[in-house]
Amino acid sequence: MVDSQRLAETVQRLTAPGRGILAADESTPTITKRFDAVGIESTEENRRAYRSLLVTTPGIGEYIGGVIFFEETLDQRTDGGETIPEAADKASIVPGIKVDKGTIELTNAPGDKITQGLDNLGERLKGYREKGARFTKWRNVYAIGHHNPTPLAIEANAEVLARYAAIAQEQGFVPIVEPEVLMDGDHDAERCAQVTEAVQHAVFAALIRHRVSLEYMILKPNMVVPGKSHPMPSAEEVAERTLTVLRRTVPAAVPSINFLSGGQSPEQATANLNAMAAASGGQAPWVLSFSYARALQQPPMEIWAGQSDRADEAQKAFHHRARLNAAARAGAYSPDMEAA
Ligand code: 13P
Repeated sequence: MVDSQRLAETVQRLTAPGRGILAADESTPTITKRFDAVGIESTEENRRAYRSLLVTTPGIGEYIGGVIFFEETLDQRTDGGETIPEAADKASIVPGIKVDKGTIELTNAPGDKITQGLDNLGERLKGYREKGARFTKWRNVYAIGHHNPTPLAIEANAEVLARYAAIAQEQGFVPIVEPEVLMDGDHDAERCAQVTEAVQHAVFAALIRHRVSLEYMILKPNMVVPGKSHPMPSAEEVAERTLTVLRRTVPAAVPSINFLSGGQSPEQATANLNAMAAASGGQAPWVLSFSYARALQQPPMEIWAGQSDRADEAQKAFHHRARLNAAARAGAYSPDMEAA
């Protein structure tokens, strides 16, 4: 039996008007790659200082309703002495946790990956709950190639994602379900649309098969865009293609769709979300919002660069990006707001 009252309360907080989700759950190898790119050494102390900078940004709770952490962060403390999840909660931001264990190659499906982490997941979740987490994230990845993703990869990944979501709900966590069709490659937007539709279709069939309560989950999809070697189409085109695929595949029972940024620039991710809100004119059956990592963090990370005397300026840049995305969620963003 799921604790539907707890789940409903978490969903309500995560989908509150004008807010989105910050993904700050990069695994240690991934944050090391991001830090390397801007010349920050990836020490435990730097990761603590950086993530606590994000969460303690003054006024950030107005635009960010939830934050996804990596396991290490749950035990780390802000300079003020509280745990980082406690600091988030104090700022009205619901703490969440990435629970998958990353990807490996899928046997007998060359070019495809599968996400691991189901073993002992229920037990691990009990520990995360004690540390304040109320929602979870699991990410699957699908690379587009001539023969990928294979039907085997689409089915096998959907199955693990649904098992994860069922276990999360059983333990009182709202699962973020993240099937990410990657932007890597030279495919066109039409191919991304076809793959995304096949992936979402399989994911929801599996979620229903596993009796996941669609009312108490959040979908975190990619937008429908061409591979990185192509220019980004207009935001209106991205919105039209993305909404077409989602309308065909995502039941109206799902409360919220929070997009990943997937390697789009911060400005593109904001403009595309804004076009989505504008195109749906408030008539979409789900909340349309954001759950960005790079598109929210790139400016503050570059400014901070590991220097404590730049923390204030980095927080201002983070606040600015969060505010613009909150405006985009309501279709109220325009590029001239970038300069403000
Ligand atoms: P990006 O917004 O950088 O794609 O990250 C979102 C995320 O959480 C990936 O799992």
